[in-house]
Formats: sequence, structure tokens, C-alpha cells
Amino acid sequence: MNPPPRTLSGKRILLIVAGGIAAYKSLDLIRRLRERGSSVRCVLTAAAKEFVTPLSVATLSRDKVYSDLFDLTAENEIGHIRLARDCDLVVVAPATADLIAKMATGLAGDLATTILLATDKPILLAPAMNHVMWAHDATRKNMATLAARKVTSIGPASGELAEGEIGAGRMSEPLDIVAAIERHFNSNAPLAGKRALVTSGPTHEPIDPVRYIANRSSGKQGHAIAAALAALGAETILVSGPTNLTAPAGVKLREIESAQQMLAACVEALPADIAVCAAAVADWRPATLGNSKLKKDGGAAPTLALTENPDILATLSKHAQRPGLVVGFAAETDDLIRHATEKRLRKGCDWIVANDVSLGTNVFGGDANTVHVIDKAGVESWERQSKEDVAHRLALRIAAYFNKAA
Ligand code: C5P
Repeated sequence: MNPPPRTLSGKRILLIVAGGIAAYKSLDLIRRLRERGSSVRCVLTAAAKEFVTPLSVATLSRDKVYSDLFDLTAENEIGHIRLARDCDLVVVAPATADLIAKMATGLAGDLATTILLATDKPILLAPAMNHVMWAHDATRKNMATLAARKVTSIGPASGELAEGEIGAGRMSEPLDIVAAIERHFNSNAPLAGKRALVTSGPTHEPIDPVRYIANRSSGKQGHAIAAALAALGAETILVSGPTNLTAPAGVKLREIESAQQMLAACVEALPADIAVCAAAVADWRPATLGNSKLKKDGGAAPTLALTENPDILATLSKHAQRPGLVVGFAAETDDLIRHATEKRLRKGCDWIVANDVSLGTNVFGGDANTVHVIDKAGVESWERQSKEDVAHRLALRIAAYFNKAA
């Protein structure tokens, strides 16, 4: 597999690891940050050393690991104040309830808390704790105090916790923390602070446990749009049907198979500022799903009764939490502009990107696309270009739309 793009090249991250079971995920976080070009200097609290060893942290970060406030060698070499300042961002992962409380109070009884009080750099927390501790009034107030001091945070995510209980408290996954860090360094980007939802690829509509109805969509255009929106700083969620593509850098991928699953994943991703529906969603699905494989029994061939799938674009366009800008695609084989214009009105989206998919255009699965962007002002026709270029130009048009509205 190709290494990820060096989106954090030259960045210096000071990673403080506190003592929680999620500390094991911080090892992966170090690796992912370094892969993207960042240097990672690590500080372990005394409790963190119960969960991960300084040796594994030092090996992955390729640096000395700091943990003792009164370590004379470290103090002579660098000093805790320089440690706090010689970085571009301080990341605390996992941030335990205890460390969060100490930060909110301004305690500085060990190296980690001293750095957090002494630093003049931005701080990003990835909280991890039991769900009752996270919901506790004390933690809520501490987080509010820290937010008022411009400390940012990512997560925690919901799910099964180490102790077997279910709730909000899991540390965000390393790649989600990486994406939050990338967004932090991208905060002047044109779509910084915006949340985008993109659908891509085909859907698979099951006939029985082994067969399905699908189409030839490759997902190339939708994935390229997600990548372009993320590159302009949008927090981007890509809801994709089965494709051969990997998730673009900095994009959260939600993999689904059927149209019904795609709709559920899209609604779950709301609220969003931007929705771009580039998926080729199956219009119909088999009406009844057999639990066992259809068998040839020598009799007449079976007939498939179909039922209509939900229209995701139309649903998002009419949703109570409608994104500020909804963009649809229209793949047409004849009378392109007229059909696409009607589609924009029928589905209630703001823009429709119309493309000709008649035989010979090689748009489905190919690398190039000729599109016309239709909005209430009229039709803008773009020359034939790569799907990446279409995506980049569309992302810039979306950024211009929000900058004009601001
Ligand atoms: O009606 P048609 O399939 O041509 O509309 C295309 C547009 O509608 C695309 O943006 C596609 O992603 C979206 N769509 C959808 N859900 C469906 C069918 C289409 O979101 N069930």
C-alpha cells in the first residue's frame, strides 16, 4: 500500500499520554503522525507507564521519552519550559478525567501538567474514560472551562468501553485524531470549520445472501470530491458503497452496501454544511430478501419483484437538518441539460452537476468527465477534464459560495 501523503510535513507535535487503557492506541497515533511527516515528542505520565512502556514509545517516536519533572539529565538537555514551547501543537491522548480536572484547575504537580500550564501552544485533547465519568457534572464543567480557554477536543466516541459497558467514552480512533490535527493546521483553509458529507460509489441491493443488483460506478468522482473538500479544510465524511478505492487522506469513511444503509449513514452524519451526492444509488431493490440462496429446481426461472429505494439526495434536501448547500449529480444519456434542470427542481437540491454517460463517453469507471453545473442562476459548462480536476473545481466553487454567503 502507498504511504499516506505527508500532510503534516515539518510539524512538531508534543504528545502527552495519560494513564488510561486507550494509551495503547497512542502507539498507533505516533506511527500515523510520523508517516505524515510530523515529528512526535512524547511525555508519559506515571500512570501512562503502567499501560505502555517508554521503550515502545521511544522506538516509535524515534526520540527520547520524557516523564519525570525532576529528571536532571532531561532538565539540562532541554528543560520542561522548552519542552512545552518547542512544538507547534500539544496533543493529549488519551486525556483522562483526572488530567482534564488538573488542567481545568491549573495544577502542575508533574511533568505533563507543568507542560500543559507552561505551554503557549494550542492544545488538542482526545478524552477517554468511563461513560459515567465523561457525563459527570465535574467533567462537563472542566471541559467547558477548558473550551473557554480555547483548548479544543476530539471525541470521545461512543461504543463498547474497556470495562464492557456501552456509552460515550472511547478515545477517538488514531486516524480520526490525525484528521483533527490536520484540520487544526488547516484552520485558515477556505472550508475550515465546515462539515461535508459526500456519497460515492454504487450500491449493492441483495437478492439473497450471495447475489445482488449493482451498477458500474467506480466511486472515482465521489472519492475525488471528498478528497478535494478535505484538502480545502472541511471535516469530510464519505459514505461509500463497495469500491476498489482507499479512503482519501483526512476523510472519514463510512462503508455501506445498500441504498437503505447509505441513507441511514447520511442521516447519522447530520448536521452538515455541505452534502454532495455523487453515488450511483440503485433506484430499486428486490422487494423481499430471501434468507437462503435461491436454487435452480428445474422449474421456471424466478421473477424478481422490485421496490423503490429511498432517494437520498431528495431526503437530504428536505430534511429538517438540511445542509446549507446540497449538490446532486445527474447522469443522463439524452437531453442532458433539460433533464438535469428538471431533476434539480424535483429533488430540491441547490446545484446539479450534469454529466453525459451515454455509450462511448466512458464516464462510468473512466478517469475524465465533462460536466455542466446547474444552479438557480443557470448553466455553467466545464471543459472535459480529469475527475480530480472536476472535484477540485467543484470544491473551490463550494468554498466561494460560503465565502459569498459569509
Ligand atoms: O434520479 P437520479 O438517480 O438520476 O438522480 C441522481 C442524483 O440523485 C445523484 O446525485 C444521486 O446520488 C442521487 N440519488 C440518491 N438516491 C437515490 C437515487 C439517486 O441520492 N435513490
